[in-house]
Amino acid sequence: MASAHPEIQVYAGPQAPKKAVTLRTLRAKYEKQQPICMATAYDYPSAVHVDQADIDIILVGDSVSMVVHGHDTTLPITLDDMLMHCKAVARGAARAFLVGDLPFGSYELSTTEAVRSAIRMLKEGGMDAVKLEGGSPARVEAARAIVEAGVAVMGHVGLTPQSVSVLGGFRPQAQVASEAVRVINQAKALQASGCFAIVLECIPAPIAAAVTKALRIPTIGIGAGPQCSGQVLVYHDLLGMMSHPHHAKVTPKFCKRYAEVGTIIQQALVQYRQEVADGLFPGQQYSPYSIQQQEVDLLVKELESSGMRDCAAAVSEAAEAANAAKQQQR
Ligand code: KIV
Repeated sequence: MASAHPEIQVYAGPQAPKKAVTLRTLRAKYEKQQPICMATAYDYPSAVHVDQADIDIILVGDSVSMVVHGHDTTLPITLDDMLMHCKAVARGAARAFLVGDLPFGSYELSTTEAVRSAIRMLKEGGMDAVKLEGGSPARVEAARAIVEAGVAVMGHVGLTPQSVSVLGGFRPQAQVASEAVRVINQAKALQASGCFAIVLECIPAPIAAAVTKALRIPTIGIGAGPQCSGQVLVYHDLLGMMSHPHHAKVTPKFCKRYAEVGTIIQQALVQYRQEVADGLFPGQQYSPYSIQQQEVDLLVKELESSGMRDCAAAVSEAAEAANAAKQQQR
């Protein structure tokens, strides 16, 4: 599956394909100090939207576990679940560089398992690279083995939600000097293992600035301030996708909501339900399929001779209503 060449012509007619973002494109942006933009996507429509916004990187994040599957953490999502989301995203993205999150339980047991999972992300999921969480020696070894197998790796330090069990909750990280030093060292070790970029999640801006200064690869921040080489936000969060009070409450503090899409969706659904209840939808306007009068007459005769008088009357009445609506439109 070639992520850079999906079926872009099916609905839109012939289009010149946009140049696909590659590691070289990202490197060039980093060297010119142009901010790199990343957003998550989890399915075909979200991938099309993110891609058409010319966002550099699409992350098929394991946040899908929370924002799409409704779990409280990222832990339950499986590699097979992730692959299904990756495939849909790869069909929708013509330009963006695609990164698939290795989910909890798919890379911790051994480097062999890590390499096998990463290869599946590219071979089956259509991704261009994978991301893994954590900067412990075991994670750094996994990253090194995956890169040696020919798969580009994005690291992720600071708040690593897959470690929620040992972190004791989703909390900001590196708020004391000793922890900050540990994060800086983890990032350097991941760089040395061959990672092409590193996500910094929920750490104070000065610490993210230090990590960014210490590295020769891009840092992509989320809740890590403005001094990173790029930024990432979760699709549903940045769009204000859910207007349910519970979701409004859990939108992270660092996330700017660029829209209130959830409110618009809710209003549209309520209006649809109301129009169905009131008999206003579909009306004649949204009943586009016609039948010739002679066919109506034949059908009515047939139904009457089979003793289905009510049915025949319903056909006549509906055909008359459709004709009347047509006359009105003229
Ligand atoms: O899964 C995800 O969406 C992520 C981002 C928060 C970086 O890992």
